[in-house]
Amino acid sequence: MRIGIVGATGAVGKELLNVLEKRNFPVSELRLYASARSAGRSLLFRGKEIPVEALPETPLPVDVVLASAGGGISKRYAPIWAMQSVVIDNSSAFRYEPDVPLIVPEINAHAMRHHKNIIANPNCTTAILLMALYPLHKAFKARRVIVSTYQSASGAGASGMEELLHGTKEFLAGHPVEHKTFAYPLPFNVIPQIDAFQENGYTKEEMKVLWETQKIMEDPQIRVSCTAVRVPTLRVHSEAVTVEFEHPVSPEAAREVLRAAPGVDLVDDPTNRRYPMPLTATGKFNVEVGRIRKSLAFDNGLDFFVAGDQLLKGAALNAVQIAELLQKPITT
Ligand code: A2P
Repeated sequence: MRIGIVGATGAVGKELLNVLEKRNFPVSELRLYASARSAGRSLLFRGKEIPVEALPETPLPVDVVLASAGGGISKRYAPIWAMQSVVIDNSSAFRYEPDVPLIVPEINAHAMRHHKNIIANPNCTTAILLMALYPLHKAFKARRVIVSTYQSASGAGASGMEELLHGTKEFLAGHPVEHKTFAYPLPFNVIPQIDAFQENGYTKEEMKVLWETQKIMEDPQIRVSCTAVRVPTLRVHSEAVTVEFEHPVSPEAAREVLRAAPGVDLVDDPTNRRYPMPLTATGKFNVEVGRIRKSLAFDNGLDFFVAGDQLLKGAALNAVQIAELLQKPITT
């Protein structure tokens, strides 16, 4: 396949190169696009320097466009790219359009069948949550979900990581910490705001978790309340999750389901202090799930903790998995 990466120099773009290489994706030609600022740079793919091109205003000469340059770019250009290529879009620009499939391959690959050349990649927090929630939902039917997130700086792109690293050094040197990407300095702080506030008091990031969970799990009845918080880690989104189920559930039954779930690593051994963490989930394709226990808040509920590398399963890995599905007949 001829592949084009739009936003190749960004945090997700670089991971797309890494994942295509690691999964041995059949790339016949790779084109890398970013802003005019990056034209002339090059990035390494399979030992070869590939030049970065300024994004043109025309269709791109590739079979698949992996887009990760933000919602504005996708909104403007994806319809043009889609004239000649299948677009796998990492932004939220098209996720809620009824005729645009929103895909997590382990969950709803079948929904890709009738795509019209634009396929949306979900929000990173949602993708990581659903890796654990969906298998449990299938087994025990989830009714209400309460999620609190611990989201890393790289969720805001390369500039978020840079701001955290630089700000931490400044803080430790006793200097004032400047901030631009985040609403407040992130080092040694947590910020309970990701994206813009909505009329109902939730942020858009929090509403995405509800909208996208309902769309991907094809269950408009499920209720999800999320509090999304930025924390000073570089990679991996972690999430504390409480779920009320319709069918009887127990921690042991949940563990059995999660042990068999694709893309999930059960890391749940409190006696030996083994649980999901950014430290262990960084760079991993699978999402870690642990701290599974009977909820004290609901009669038939569970609490658990997930940690997933959101640049991978929440973005680049999921996008490449979607591209892999384009090459084979969809059977699920
Ligand atoms: P550039 O590095 O040239 O600015 P991140 O999510 O890490 O912030 O990355 C955003 C990606 O989107 C980068 O690769 C960035 O390229 C790219 N980008 C930003 N603005 C544009 C634009 N106007 N046209 C094409 N690519 C863009």
